[in-house]
Amino acid sequence: MNTGSGGDPAACAARPPGPAAAAGAIHPAFLPPEALELDLSDPQQRDFGDYELRERLGAGGMGVVYRAWQRSLDREVAIKLLSSAPWTQDEAAARFRREARSAARLQHPNIVAIHGFGSHDGIEYYAMALVRGPSLARRLAVDGPMAPRQAARLGRTVAEALHYAHRLGVLHLDLKPGNVLIGENGEPQVADFGLARHVEGGRAVDPDEVSGTPSYMAPEQLDPGPDGIGVATDIYGLGAILYELLTGEPPFHAPTPARTLALLRHGRLRRPRRYRPDLPLDLEAICMRCLARAPAERYPDAHALAEDLGRFLEGREVSVRPLNAVQRLGRWIRREPKLGGAILAAVLALVVGLARRWCSGSGRRRARPPRAGRPGAARRRGLASGRRGPPCRRPAPAGR
Ligand SMILES: Nc1ncnc2c1ncn2[C@@H]1O[C@H](COP(=O)(O)OP(=O)(O)OP(=O)(O)O)[C@@H](O)[C@H]1O
Ligand SMILES: [Mg+2]
Repeated sequence: MNTGSGGDPAACAARPPGPAAAAGAIHPAFLPPEALELDLSDPQQRDFGDYELRERLGAGGMGVVYRAWQRSLDREVAIKLLSSAPWTQDEAAARFRREARSAARLQHPNIVAIHGFGSHDGIEYYAMALVRGPSLARRLAVDGPMAPRQAARLGRTVAEALHYAHRLGVLHLDLKPGNVLIGENGEPQVADFGLARHVEGGRAVDPDEVSGTPSYMAPEQLDPGPDGIGVATDIYGLGAILYELLTGEPPFHAPTPARTLALLRHGRLRRPRRYRPDLPLDLEAICMRCLARAPAERYPDAHALAEDLGRFLEGREVSVRPLNAVQRLGRWIRREPKLGGAILAAVLALVVGLARRWCSGSGRRRARPPRAGRPGAARRRGLASGRRGPPCRRPAPAGR
């Protein structure tokens, strides 16, 4: 699992050791992160085969990314080297290659292009297009939440790119603001089809590996249900990005990955309008549909999501109407049947009790004899009751 902690040794140590660790081999997760970092002031360490490493761009769950110069093609690239990983060297390397191979099939203006992959001095790497712009995570940290229309536009572009990847049978499965980079033209580019695996008929072929970053993981990445992991998992991931772009917060977040996962399992998602009451209802409804707990309740594919975002941007009616209070209550009762049933029973008992009291009270009022009082008052009461109802007219005899 990607704890989203990069080179955090404590988080690495918390990961389950693989078979190599059990066999006594040194597990890379237990190496201090410094040992995996290269000293770029040393020309020997800068020299990496066909590449000259020039600047460390950052580190993530699987590797360290450098800006590099590719000598053979005279161009600047980004290169990701496998650093600490939660598995044995062999497993991590195999997964790294699988990641690069599936991502290399994708050619799309909004997906970071893979230039090549291989291994140098025993270090696995892949080279990709260098994106000269911040990630969405960085952008959010600096500027805070986005304007709704800007977020919807960005979401629509990413949804279309995702749909393209899904049609080629590739899932992302680690969508988060850190994996969406903003190019020089301001357009988003999805990086790291890092946990990618093949998808057939909308469902992952090898759903045995549960991975992701806790705050952005879909519930089925934690507890794969009957639907398994598939296209709907990426729809959730994009919904999580949209949620954070609109509110400034990921859907679920706690101080530790374990507590975040507990929230994902049992917590209730706050509606975006609780953070920003001025958010358009339609956009909130689109976001919440992506984040539905059950995969079957989300958009059927990324194209349907892109279309709804397009309809929102054009001011047309979206396919998901915002739920009214009664519908929301119904959905909540379906989700919490025990508590909902108990509350419903209590409300019914209260209503029945009140109705009974009211009936018996009005019966008593009807049976009560007229109160003795001043004669005028009694006459007035009599007159008043005499006025009640229309005057009784005898039907006129026919022929008159
Ligand atoms: N193609 C690229 N061009 C420019 N910068 C990049 C590129 N790919 C990654 N980066 C930057 O390198 C840093 C590390 O990326 P990396 O993918 O290793 O980590 P991450 O995205 O935080 O986590 P994860 O391992 O889950 O993807 C990030 O700050 C990212 O912005
Ligand atoms: Mg990344």
